[in-house]
Amino acid sequence: MNILVTGGCGFIGSNFIRFVLETHQEDSILNVDKLTYAGNPENLSDLADSPRYRFVWADISDAPRMEALLKEGIDAVVNFAAESHVDRSIQDPSAFIRTNINGTYVLLEGIRKLFPKKPIRFLHISTDEVYGSLGERGAFTEETPLAPNSPYSASKTAADVMVRAYHRTYGLPVLITRCSNNYGPYQFPEKLIPLMISNALEDKELPLYGDGLHIRDWIYVEDHCRALDLVLREGRDGEVYNIGGQSERTNLSVAHAILDLLGKPRSLIRFVTDRPGHDRRYAIDFSKIRRELGWEPLRTFEQGIARTVEWYVTHEPWWRKIKSGAYLEYYRSMYENR
Ligand code: NAD
Ligand code: TYD
Repeated sequence: MNILVTGGCGFIGSNFIRFVLETHQEDSILNVDKLTYAGNPENLSDLADSPRYRFVWADISDAPRMEALLKEGIDAVVNFAAESHVDRSIQDPSAFIRTNINGTYVLLEGIRKLFPKKPIRFLHISTDEVYGSLGERGAFTEETPLAPNSPYSASKTAADVMVRAYHRTYGLPVLITRCSNNYGPYQFPEKLIPLMISNALEDKELPLYGDGLHIRDWIYVEDHCRALDLVLREGRDGEVYNIGGQSERTNLSVAHAILDLLGKPRSLIRFVTDRPGHDRRYAIDFSKIRRELGWEPLRTFEQGIARTVEWYVTHEPWWRKIKSGAYLEYYRSMYENR
């Protein structure tokens, strides 16, 4: 397959590209990324010379550019490109509307226009946050009503249901995945786990929102990528697949695990003002993908967090460049001249 991946310079996209190129020797990838603050081509610098990988600097909301790229013999699109951080969406939702909603629409419309007879597959990376928040019990299934609470999750929900509508109305062969919180190598250090690891390494405070007892289900990014690869190749058109890590943890216990692995004191933890509209608990029922495609996560949280901490310890220049902002200027100047 020749796969067009959007947002491949971000955290999950870069891990997915590496996974596909390593697993499928016949496949090639065209990576389209706008290089927002979250996009870092260094995440894929090891692939720069690969004949099966190409990077194009572009915005998925740019319809003429997307149509031109879709005409390049693409067999499938995997849409990761998004504004992805809840706290930024609370500060200013506008980019979330442009990229997450309008950008997804542009891709769908491009496929509809260009391939009226035999449309190509469109795998849309949605999120479990479209379901809203859970009480103490139960888990999200694919039938749970959508009830997003943040501008981020509302924009992801709008995209998710538009993807569904393009299947129902125009027959596009779409697939939607809704995964829980990812962690692992190359995650931008504004998200909980890499922020906590890098702050602890710098002996800075670890800010926990509210009482720190909010619960997320954590999945190691490689397990997510393996699930996406399966859904892309073997999933049923028009279907939604939940993906989960079987690892519910409070944010406080995540912080403890990180501090213990690094041998740092728990006194670094600071409880700070809560996030507005903060979802209390996420949990995922992934029995559908297990039943239909035989997938399940392979890493426990203890294994995954140990590997992740080790990765951040051994890749200090990577996250230091991001925290200082130096990486942005360097890559912009590189690509602006192309
Ligand atoms: P990320 O913020 O690390 O990466 C997003 C990437 O998209 C960046 O490379 C950025 O430059 C690019 N991008 C942003 N706007 C663009 C545009 N208009 N055109 C082209 N590229 C653009 O995000 P991530 O954590 O890797 O998440 C990837 C996807 O997975 C998102 O759609 C997110 O909603 C979804 N998701 C994430 C998680 C998670 O825990 N991180 C969980 C479930 C679903
Ligand atoms: P985050 O990584 O932003 O993912 P999401 O909000 O999309 O689940 O946050 C994960 C959890 O960690 C969430 O409950 C908010 C909390 N959190 C903190 O307590 N402190 C922080 O500095 C951050 C970034 C998140």
